[in-house]
Amino acid sequence: MNAERVAAFHPDLITALRRAQRVVVLTGAGVSAESGVPTFRDAQAGLWENFKPEELATPEAFRRDPKLVWEWYAWRREKVRSVQPNAGHKALAAMAKRFAEFTLITQNVDGLHQRAGSAGVIELHGNITRTKCFRENIVVPEWTNTGEVPPRCPQCKGHLRPDVVWFGEDLPEAAINEAMRVSSACDLFLSIGTSSVVYPAAMLPEIALRTGATVVEINPDETPLTSEATFSLRGPSGTVLPELLRAVGIS
Ligand code: APR
Repeated sequence: MNAERVAAFHPDLITALRRAQRVVVLTGAGVSAESGVPTFRDAQAGLWENFKPEELATPEAFRRDPKLVWEWYAWRREKVRSVQPNAGHKALAAMAKRFAEFTLITQNVDGLHQRAGSAGVIELHGNITRTKCFRENIVVPEWTNTGEVPPRCPQCKGHLRPDVVWFGEDLPEAAINEAMRVSSACDLFLSIGTSSVVYPAAMLPEIALRTGATVVEINPDETPLTSEATFSLRGPSGTVLPELLRAVGIS
């Protein structure tokens, strides 16, 4: 493929991007797929192939087998540390500078947007690189490594766990409230690399649609949002996003 090629996008989409003042982007695991981070609904690899994320990422699973859940997250954390942001993450970091208001909301816990240079990212599902106390629900930056798995909270001696939102848990209130506020006040909303099935995140493009924003989906596959979106672009975000920015003159 010629790197200079400018893909053909609908002229109304280009106009919407050029005119947009208040832009909101929601990302999901698909944005990190091209960096080599497996999406949640991909089959798991190697050691973990017999486990389902939905059965490990819950408070019940942690209560039942804290060592197993801690070790799964330790494996995911190592995976995230060893990969790099891709062209999609970088395109989103570049976009932030081109609009009067720009908010990046992510369901990802891998911190790759920040590593690509995005600031003020709203993390709906926490961050895998942070750790908190299972009992007290407070972030714990340091602890003594005694070899016990999971390690213990220096304050209360309860188990430590990753600072991510598990199935059945509430989202951080400030993050979801701010995400809903900006989604209801934007003129352009992009939903990128998310299966649009996990609520309340999947509600955000619906809020944007209801308030009259142009909603653009980028995903290689169809999702429940596809038929509702103003434009749906089929393809991987690491290719489609840079092409779109080139077509609009942001790159
Ligand atoms: N570019 C864009 N999208 C992609 C790419 C790619 N290169 N590769 C895959 N996708 C799409 C898939 O088609 C799918 O629709 O990314 C989506 C990934 O879906 P999920 O794995 O369901 O991830 P996500 O939508 O982020 O899940 C939401 O659910 O499992 C929980 O807490 C977890 O944050 C996660 C949430």
